[in-house]
Amino acid sequence: MEPAIIKLGYLAAAVLFILGLKGLSHPRTAVRGNLIGAFGMLLAISLTLLDRNIVRFEVIAAGIAAGTVIGAVLALKIRITAMPQMVALLNGFGGGASVVVAGAAMMATKVISGVPEGQLQVATIASGIIGAVTFWGSLVAYGKLEGIVTEGSVQLPQHQLLNLALFVLSLALGSLIILAPSWAVSSYWALVLAASILGVLLTLPIGGADMPVAICLLNSYSGLAGAATGFVLNNNALIITGSLVGASGIILTQIMCKAMNRSLVNVLTGGFEAAEGTAKTADEMYEGRIKATTAEELAMVFDAARRVVITPGYGMAVARAQHAVRDLANLLEARGIVVEYGIHPVAGRMPGHMNVLLAEAEVPYDKLKELDQINPTFEQTDVVLVIGANDTVNPMANTDGSCPIAGMPILEVGKARTVVVIKRSLSPGFAGIPNPLFAADNTLMFFADAEKAVLEIIAAVKEAA
Ligand code: TAP
Repeated sequence: MEPAIIKLGYLAAAVLFILGLKGLSHPRTAVRGNLIGAFGMLLAISLTLLDRNIVRFEVIAAGIAAGTVIGAVLALKIRITAMPQMVALLNGFGGGASVVVAGAAMMATKVISGVPEGQLQVATIASGIIGAVTFWGSLVAYGKLEGIVTEGSVQLPQHQLLNLALFVLSLALGSLIILAPSWAVSSYWALVLAASILGVLLTLPIGGADMPVAICLLNSYSGLAGAATGFVLNNNALIITGSLVGASGIILTQIMCKAMNRSLVNVLTGGFEAAEGTAKTADEMYEGRIKATTAEELAMVFDAARRVVITPGYGMAVARAQHAVRDLANLLEARGIVVEYGIHPVAGRMPGHMNVLLAEAEVPYDKLKELDQINPTFEQTDVVLVIGANDTVNPMANTDGSCPIAGMPILEVGKARTVVVIKRSLSPGFAGIPNPLFAADNTLMFFADAEKAVLEIIAAVKEAA
C-alpha cells in the first residue's frame, strides 16, 4: 500500500483516539468513546499489517488469538475490588511489549526503512529503560495489591542512592549501544536487566494502599515506552497513542495526588504511613460519645426525611453492597424522598471506584454528585448515609494541620441534620487516624457489614410502612 495512504490512515486513527478519549471523559459518552478508540486501534493495526510484513500472518493471528483468550478470561473473572491489579498487569505488559519490540527491531534493523541511525539508537534505549521499569514496577504493584509481596513500604539501606546508580548504569549501557555497535545487542539486554532491577526498587517503597497512584504513574510510563517504540519503528500511530497514554496517565496521577493533598514525591518515597500511637487518642475521642443504632430506629429516621445523601467509600466495595444500596435508594424515592450520592474523588482504592460500582448497580449517573456539587447541599439534607467511608468524611482534614490527611478536601457530611455511619467497628480507614465524625452529636453508628446493614434497613423501612 502507498506510504502516503498509510500515513493518512494513521492520522485518522490518531483523531479517533483523541475523540475516544473525549468520549471517555463523561460516563454517558464513555461506551461510545471506548468504541471509537477501539475502532481507531483496529484501523491502526490493519494499516500496520498492510504496511510491513515483518512476521508471518499466521504468527500474528496466533498471537492475537492467544491474547484475546487470556484477556477475556482475566477480564471476566476479575473481582471488581481487584481492578487495580488488572490495570497494573495491563500496564506491565505494555511496558514489556515495548522492551521486546525495540529489542527485536534492533536485532533486525534491516527491516525498518527510513529510520535514521541516531533516532533508532536513542529510541531503543528509551524503550528498553522505560519499558523494563514499567514491566517490573507493575509486577511489584500487582504483587503488593494481591498480597504476594509485602504491602508495607520496603526500603533498603541507601535506597535512593541505589536507584540513582541503577539509572546511571542503564544510561551507560545505553551509550554503549551508540559507541560500540558490535556490542549493541548485549548492551541492550544488560540495560534491560539494570532497568528491571530499578523498576522493582522504585516500586518497593510505595505502600500497598498508595498503589493506585503508582499504577497511574506506571500507566503513564507504559505510554512513554510505547511512544519511544513508535520512534524505533517510525510508526506515527504508536508515537501518538503512546504520547496520549503518557499524558493522560500523568494527569490522572496529579488529580489523585491533589485529591489526597499529597505530593507525588511523598507517594513515591512511601512517606505516607498509617499514623502510629493514635489508639489512645481514638479512645479519648470516642469514650462515652458513640451512639449505636439499629435498623428499626433508622426506619423511623428515614420516615421523617425529605432529602437523603448517600456517601459510599471503600467499605461498600469490600461488602459489594452497591446493589443493596440502589434498592434502598429506590425504596426511599418511592416514598417521595430525594436521594443523591456524594462521590469523593479518592473514595475507595482506585480512580472512579465508586462510580464504577454504582454504575454496575445501574444507579443513574445524574444522581452521582461530585464534592463541590454536594458539599453546599448538606445543610439542607435530613440524613446522610455514610456507607463504608471514613477518611473521605473525616473533619480532621480541616481541623488538624498535622494529621496525615491535613488539607484533603472532604465531604462535609457533619452539616446534615442526622449522619448515619455504617461500618463494622470503630477501626480507622486507610489513613489510620480516628474520626471525630463518629462521636458527633448528630451521628448514629450502625455497626455491621455494609451489605447486611443496608438489607436490614430495607426490611425495617418496609416493615414500618
Ligand atoms: P477508608 O478511609 O479507607 O475507610 C473505609 C472504611 O470501610 C473502614 O474504616 C472500614 O471500617 C470500612 N469497611 C471495610 N469493610 C467494610 C464492610 N465489609 N462493611 C462496612 N464497612 C467496611 O475509605 P474511604 O473513605 O473510601 O477513603 C479512601 C482512602 O483511600 C483515602 O484515604 C484515600 O486517600 C485512599 N486512597 C484512595 C485512592 C483512590 S484513587 N480512590 C488511592 C489511594 C489511596 P471497619 O473496618 O470498621 O468496617
